[in-house]
Amino acid sequence: MALNGAFSHLTIEVTDLDKSEAFYLDVIGLDLLGRDLVAEDRPTSLLAMNTRQRVLLVEVPEVPPYPASGGSIHHAWLLTVKQFAKARDRLEALGYEPAIDPRQSFRAVGEFNMDIHDPDGHRFQIQAFGDEGTEILGSGAGTVACGKIGEFAPGSVTRIAKGRFFLVRNADGFLALSAWCTHKNGITTWQKESWHYYCPFHGAKFDANGVYKGDMGCQPLRLNPVSIDDDGTVLVDTGRFFAREGYSPSQAVPARPGAVFQCGGLRELTVSLERPVSKARE
Ligand code: FES
Repeated sequence: MALNGAFSHLTIEVTDLDKSEAFYLDVIGLDLLGRDLVAEDRPTSLLAMNTRQRVLLVEVPEVPPYPASGGSIHHAWLLTVKQFAKARDRLEALGYEPAIDPRQSFRAVGEFNMDIHDPDGHRFQIQAFGDEGTEILGSGAGTVACGKIGEFAPGSVTRIAKGRFFLVRNADGFLALSAWCTHKNGITTWQKESWHYYCPFHGAKFDANGVYKGDMGCQPLRLNPVSIDDDGTVLVDTGRFFAREGYSPSQAVPARPGAVFQCGGLRELTVSLERPVSKARE
């Protein structure tokens, strides 16, 4: 039941009121307000959350089985990272094993998740987002020599795994786009067929110059500075990052020996964590 944009109470059908009530009190930690307090023919139990919202358990003869795949219809509770750790410890201390997160490999950096199921199989997702999700992550790769100018055709996008960036050669020159998603530090991939970068973590898309397309309000992919030495080798400094509002040709480094990145007007960001790429992923 929704109220002023939030919900006032959540109604959950259960087949064994005693058993389910015990689960929501002992495992989830809700408070019991009482039995059969609402105008309802079937047995009910009213429970309180610390947000002043309520959970109403209604006993029914049968609850449809939860889809074996895990399904996408479920309730999600968002906690702080501290609350999440406390909840996990409490669940473990009670001998309750949260289910293995089926999407673990799709979680962004600093995203925590556990799934728990009540006695009737209703799924609850407990989530938290840590600071790492918005911090600037360095690869520790230093300055990466990508190759000679002529090795990169105009219009090409080359993923340089070691430094976690894409080297783009467009009509204006070279750009190095950090592969870290500006939403929550997922790792983006280049989807050549659709001419965009895609983040599988929550579905963000960025155009060929790294500018976000969608309604999640993400910033463009960050830039690592490019320079070209006198021999025509394209170098990328993976220890520096620049934020931008959109794309402009001045961000690209002309494809000629001696050209350097002009950061005028762009905000340099401070690297707060190193996340080196493992050998296996290079
Ligand atoms: S981390 Fe959320 S869409 Fe990329």
